Amino acid sequence: MVNNNTLPTPVNILAIESSCDETSAAVCRDGMILSNVIASQKIHEQYGGVVPELASRAHIQHIVPVVDAALRQTGVDKKDITAIAFTRSPGLIGSLLVGSQFAKSFALAMQIPLIAVHHMQAHVLANLIPSFTNGSPAPKPSFPLLCLTVSGGHTQIVICRSPVDLQVIGETMDDAAGEAFDKSAKLLGLPYPGGPLIDRYAKTGNPAAFKFPEPQIPGLNFSFSGLKTSILYFLQERTKNNPAFVKENLEDICASIQNRIVSILLNKLKKASLETGIKNICIAGGVAANNGLRVALQEMGTKLQWQTFIPKFEYCTDNAAMIAITGYYKFLAKDFVNLDVTASARAEWE
Ligand code: KG4
Ligand code: ZN
Repeated sequence: MVNNNTLPTPVNILAIESSCDETSAAVCRDGMILSNVIASQKIHEQYGGVVPELASRAHIQHIVPVVDAALRQTGVDKKDITAIAFTRSPGLIGSLLVGSQFAKSFALAMQIPLIAVHHMQAHVLANLIPSFTNGSPAPKPSFPLLCLTVSGGHTQIVICRSPVDLQVIGETMDDAAGEAFDKSAKLLGLPYPGGPLIDRYAKTGNPAAFKFPEPQIPGLNFSFSGLKTSILYFLQERTKNNPAFVKENLEDICASIQNRIVSILLNKLKKASLETGIKNICIAGGVAANNGLRVALQEMGTKLQWQTFIPKFEYCTDNAAMIAITGYYKFLAKDFVNLDVTASARAEWE
C-alpha cells in the first residue's frame, strides 16, 4: 500500500477498461503508456448492435489473457504494479462488473490502491497521453481546455481546468453523435458499427450533394434525433422513384450526412469557445476518429486561432490507456476507493 507522502518510483499503473464491447488492459509508468492491449468483440456484428449479455461473457473470456498480454509486453511484473485503475461507470452494468471485480481482486491480492475511473473523464484525458513525432515529444494541451467528447453513448462539451477538475457545459438531449452515425448507416443498409463505414464512403463523396437540416437547440446542448428522422424521410422519398438510389449515390449521401453531423458538433464547439474565451480545444471519443471531423476541426482551429489537439487513433475509441492516464492523475491526487466500491451503469460525473 502507498500511505506516505512520498511518491514511489516508478509509479506503475495497471488499468482495465470493460464498459462496452472492448476488453482492454494497459500499463503506464510515470504517465507514459507502455502497453495498450484491446480485444474487440466481433460477435455483436451479426445482431446490428451490442448485446449486453454476450458482451459480459466475452469480457469474462478475454480479461485474464488481455491483462497478461499487457503486462508481458512491458516486462513489468505484477508485483511491481503500484496501483490498479478500472472503469467504474458509465456503461453496460454486466460488462463493468467484470472489469471492476477483476480490479478489486487484483488490488486485494497485491495489497495495492484501487482507483475508480469515470469513462467520460478518461476519454477527455486521452488528450494528455504523451505522444512523439520522429522521437520528439508532441505538444500537450494546457489548461483550461475545452473538450468535445463524441462517442457511441455520449456527446459532451467539457471544461477541463486540471486533469481532475472537469465540468460538463453541454450535452446531447437524445442520441449521441456516434449513434447518429450508426443509425444513419443502418438506414443505408450498412452493417454495425456504421460510423467508420460512413467515414470511408464519405471520402470520395460530395458533402454538398444533399442538404439535411441543422437542429436549432438553445445553449450548448445537442440533438440528433431530428436528423435521423429527416434522413429516413429523405431516403423513403428518393427510393420511391428509384429503388437503386442509395446504391447509386452512397458516397454522396455518406458525405452529406457526415458533413451535417460535423457541422452540428463544431458550431456548438465554436459557441462554447466564444462564450468561455478558451482556445485550447480537444476532441475525444470514438467519433474523434472521423476524418471529416478531424479535418474540419483543424480548419476551424486555424481560422479562430485555436490550439487543437486530437488523441492518436487508438486512444480515440475505447481503450485502457486512457483509463491508465486518468488513473495516474488520480493516483497523484491520492483519489483511491475502497474494496466495497460498486460499478454503476449511469453514475454522474465525479
Ligand atoms: O468511444 P467509443 O469507442 O465507444 C463508446 O464509448 O461509445 O465510440 C464508438 C462510436 C460508434 O458509434 C462508432 O460508430 C463511432 O464511435 N466511430 C466513428 C468512427 N470510428 C468510430 N464514427 C464516425 N467515423 C469514424 N471514423
Ligand atoms: Zn467510450
